[in-house]
Amino acid sequence: MSTRAGGIDLGQCRELLERDPEIRHFVPVHLYGHALDMNELKELKDDFDLSIVEDCAQAIGASHSGVSVGTVGQLAATSFYPTKNLGALGDGGAVLTDDEEVATKARVLRNYGQSGHYVHDELGSNSRLDELHAAILRDAMLPNLEAWTALRRKTARLYLDAIRIPLIQMCLPSTSADPVWHLFPILVGEGMRDSLREHLREVGIDTAIHYPRIIPEQQALTKNTRFEVPFEPTNARRFAAEELSLPIHPFLIETEIRQVIDACNKWEPRGSAAH
Ligand SMILES: Cc1ncc(COP(=O)(O)O)c(C=O)c1O
Repeated sequence: MSTRAGGIDLGQCRELLERDPEIRHFVPVHLYGHALDMNELKELKDDFDLSIVEDCAQAIGASHSGVSVGTVGQLAATSFYPTKNLGALGDGGAVLTDDEEVATKARVLRNYGQSGHYVHDELGSNSRLDELHAAILRDAMLPNLEAWTALRRKTARLYLDAIRIPLIQMCLPSTSADPVWHLFPILVGEGMRDSLREHLREVGIDTAIHYPRIIPEQQALTKNTRFEVPFEPTNARRFAAEELSLPIHPFLIETEIRQVIDACNKWEPRGSAAH
């Protein structure tokens, strides 16, 4: 069995934008390394005159219908957190734009709001990527990105082809998408995720949950602010309850990948003898 890969539902976004013309800004997240439908995103941007910041933190190199993530929004952001597909040795990130005005503004904001030496025209912060990390990213990491992405894709293909147990649902990209598999999410029937997690842990396979708590339930948003979700976040709730991420990174060797596949296929949920 399979389901659509996680990520915001652009059809639902269109309905919302039609209902509420005051919405001006949109931050779509290309989650798990799967690009959203880039043509649909472009149509939303044009039809509703939106300003868009694409969150490409998990999807550097991903594309949909041949269109790369980060090329539709006025701005795109990515993360160089060490576990990301293009990771540094510590925190870091970048914003991408082809708009000179936006680029100048970003350069000012990341450097205490300085437009010149000791000239502060606005409030900013210190978000500069230090030079050592910039050099590590440019010389040691970036040249490997394509090869590392190919290895992630190979692992994903093996999982997709060989994990065959009805209790585990695969998250398939659409046929027009070319994901970079930052994560490999599967869905496990409600209430059974802990059993699979424990079963994998017993044979030395670590897994993670992305993400156990949905945004509308985060106190940071609900405590002091007027924060409304204009529709029931059914998909997000489902992923919070059922998602489990299997190991995926460029340094997995084939024996390890086969161990994950075998362990998944041999899983029998606690209290059940049937698959
Ligand atoms: C989808 C997504 N957006 C944004 C971020 C934030 O990135 P950073 O920690 O580099 O600010 C992350 C990091 O985990 C992420 O996965």
